[in-house]
Amino acid sequence: MTFQSGRHFLQIPGPTNVPDQVLRAISAPTIDHRGPEFAALTSELLDALKPVFGTSGPVIVFPGSGTGAWEAALVNTLSTGDRVLHVETGHFATLWQQMAAGLGLLVDFVPGDWRHGASPEAIADHLAADSARTIKAVCVVHNETSTGVTSRISEIRQAMDATGHPALLLVDTISSLGSIDYRHDEWGVDVTIAGSQKGLMLPPGLGFNAVSEKALAASRTARLRTSYWDWQPY
Ligand SMILES: Cc1ncc(COP(=O)(O)O)c(C=O)c1O
Repeated sequence: MTFQSGRHFLQIPGPTNVPDQVLRAISAPTIDHRGPEFAALTSELLDALKPVFGTSGPVIVFPGSGTGAWEAALVNTLSTGDRVLHVETGHFATLWQQMAAGLGLLVDFVPGDWRHGASPEAIADHLAADSARTIKAVCVVHNETSTGVTSRISEIRQAMDATGHPALLLVDTISSLGSIDYRHDEWGVDVTIAGSQKGLMLPPGLGFNAVSEKALAASRTARLRTSYWDWQPY
């Protein structure tokens, strides 16, 4: 049997170490999840989350990890057979596009060398070539945890807008939110995807989607296959 002296100290990109103040809050006795105290707390937290994402719009909280929040962003905005543009910035961008393909989306995967962030010019070139407007979303990882390389989201949005293409912009901030400057509204992001266990310094188990008006409108017609029992997880 191994004996561990002192406190276990995780030294990985995430989960990060949870501050004592948060650990103490978690140790409070359970409250009734159907009671008024819980409703008031939830509504307060939903409002308090908005500035964390830099948005005045809704932030949706899911029981799940960041991977679940990736999935939520795709299934709520897209339909089976839609084309999506993913950019190969590293390991997590690669996993995300595999999920998209597994869900029945047609993925254009812009190759990368795992040393550079997503190129606004390459994205704009792809969108400009899509004269039939079949690409419905551009998916970018803000901070590639596998390499530490960050993509310039504001410039990507500007490059997209310059082409006049209507694709949604979906951004994974799982390891950047709370750690690196991020502005959902100002940068014109449609869905910002996050998880609890990195920059927010909470335990794993919560996924987040901050959503724009345009993403909400897309969600009203999105019809992506939502039975996963028959596909192999990546
Ligand atoms: C950038 C990025 N995206 C997605 C994920 C997957 O998140 P999770 O492990 O919470 O499912 C991670 C996890 O490290 C990540 O760093």
